Amino acid sequence: MGTTTIEVETSTNHHRHPKLEQWVAEMAQMCKPDRVYWCDGSPEEYKSLVRYLIMSGIGVPLNPEKRPNSVLVRSDPADVARVEDSTFICSRTKEDAGPTNNWEDPTKMKQKLAGFFAGSMVGRTMYVIPYSLGPIGSPTAKLGVEITDSTYVVVSMHIMSRVGTRVFETLGKDGEFVRGLHSVGDPLGPNQADSTWRCNSENKYICHFPETREIWSYGSGYGGNALLAKKCHALRIASVQARDEGWMAEHMLILKLISPSGQAKYMTGAFPSACGKTNLSMLIPTIPGWKVETIGDDIAWMKFGADGRLYAINPEYGFFGVAPGTSMKSNANAMLSITHDAIFTNCAMTLDGDVWWEGMTDQKPAHLVDWLRRRWTPESGRKAAHPNARFTAHASQCPVIAPEWEDPKGVPIDAILFGGRRAGIVPLVTEAFDWQHGTFLGSTVSSETTAASIGQVGRLRRDPMAMLPFCGYHMGDYFAHWLKIGAQSTASKLPKVFYVNWFRQDKNGKFLWPGYGENSRVLRWIFERCDGKVHAKDTPIGRIPEVANLDTTGLDITSDQVNELLAVDIDGWLAEVPSIKEHFAQFGTHLPEGLNTEVKALESRLRAAKR
Ligand code: GTP
Ligand code: SPV
Ligand code: MN
Repeated sequence: MGTTTIEVETSTNHHRHPKLEQWVAEMAQMCKPDRVYWCDGSPEEYKSLVRYLIMSGIGVPLNPEKRPNSVLVRSDPADVARVEDSTFICSRTKEDAGPTNNWEDPTKMKQKLAGFFAGSMVGRTMYVIPYSLGPIGSPTAKLGVEITDSTYVVVSMHIMSRVGTRVFETLGKDGEFVRGLHSVGDPLGPNQADSTWRCNSENKYICHFPETREIWSYGSGYGGNALLAKKCHALRIASVQARDEGWMAEHMLILKLISPSGQAKYMTGAFPSACGKTNLSMLIPTIPGWKVETIGDDIAWMKFGADGRLYAINPEYGFFGVAPGTSMKSNANAMLSITHDAIFTNCAMTLDGDVWWEGMTDQKPAHLVDWLRRRWTPESGRKAAHPNARFTAHASQCPVIAPEWEDPKGVPIDAILFGGRRAGIVPLVTEAFDWQHGTFLGSTVSSETTAASIGQVGRLRRDPMAMLPFCGYHMGDYFAHWLKIGAQSTASKLPKVFYVNWFRQDKNGKFLWPGYGENSRVLRWIFERCDGKVHAKDTPIGRIPEVANLDTTGLDITSDQVNELLAVDIDGWLAEVPSIKEHFAQFGTHLPEGLNTEVKALESRLRAAKR
């Protein structure tokens, strides 16, 4: 391919930051793109890059009468979700990455990756994307720059984070930023056109260097592997920044629940990937007079305010939501958020140029083009959309986005919810006795794996605080950080902690709880618990609603089913204790003593209940 000339395009207002300039120049030297393009984040830039996706054949424009300004992109079947096995935390010591992360020595990993990145952008444009996580200029916001050779990544980043020249202005001459380098790892030959989704089918590496606040991602163009502001920065690197600076970076939705009298409470919820955050964050309550507004659907950054309460901001700017299962019935607000100006990935296409996925309509269309571009009919016997198909849209397009969702100081959190997919044992809702017990509940969350990550689906695993794939340091230290946060305020000011489970099943494998909008019944109980207005009964595992206090009017549910949903299965929980101990054992001396105390206390409460 010979030598490539590197021409540097300069967008107007692009401020000179010598270290940024030098880093971009060095990365260009290594990756050898045909050109370097500095993104300005403008709507014109977005439009012209979407046009490029369409003209090159990577994306298909959707029917403007059905879904204006929207595009469908279909990926390579070898690149459809996050790759946890190929995700590394390259901290200086293996110990700091802990037992739940893949680790490699940072120098060795960089050497290895430098080999992959060398010439990886030949024939392509290297885009430089400045972004802000959180409102630009807010004291809570953090800045980053992602270098990528994927046009799809640039347009997605335009939606998912605040991209633009103002970031360079905020950076000034020497501001700090997280450096993200991304390549799909598939350079173009001299006469090769960019005509389809590109990735590296052999090698994928999603690497984090927490001490130097760097991300190097190679080989995948999909979601969290490639939109580096999302999981890589806003969770893995940010969790390290949060540990160092005394705040929290969490895999949490943020919602505002408004009572019929107009009182509002803010709640966050940590559920593992594809376990209901987007759905809960914008639910339409089925109980009269109650309302939900959305602040965020995936990530929360929380910091103490001067009043000793925890305030949360949504560092993101848009939604990258699971498409399958999303319908006007299950999540109307998500459907209404994506009626225009949206990007769809790995969805099926209808004959009139719209998108479709499993669960969108009661009746399946008679003919579709599936996500692999094959003709599809209901008789095909396969899914038309990939199970991890996603939609991407600006948060501002959500009909119930809270007016204060961009408030730089965040919203004060009243309750933190943990949850996961558990067919048995875990009740519909449990309230923690206190912060330490709440941390214990979060640290033991277990859930069935989903299509959000490559690998077996439906395998039960511990996913503490829904952060197993996203914690940038030793999970035991992360638990200790949670306890330390709790020690910095008083019980009356700290959020109350709850553990919810929408996914309990009966003997026939049917969900016992209707879920979705009906979850408002549980949110209402939580709301009233925060005000101390409703009683809860103490059980060995935590506080559970009295059956009479869970509003089930209008629900097609028997009292046996409600009893089962709220039942505490003492023998089942006793059987769970050794597995919790085993889970904790892997953290060795990093496990904070408080959590050991909690598991012992749980065991003795369970034994006492059996007597
Ligand atoms: P990530 O974006 O991967 O972090 O996922 P998420 O936690 O935002 O998950 P999301 O809300 O997109 O839900 C994923 C899947 O869970 C969808 O297929 C939903 O239909 C399903 N789901 C969400 N809420 C409920 C619920 O209350 N009950 C049941 N049974 N399923 C639900
Ligand atoms: C998740 O897997 O938790 C997601 C999707 O939110 S991704 O951005 O691909 O990580
Ligand atoms: Mn997520």
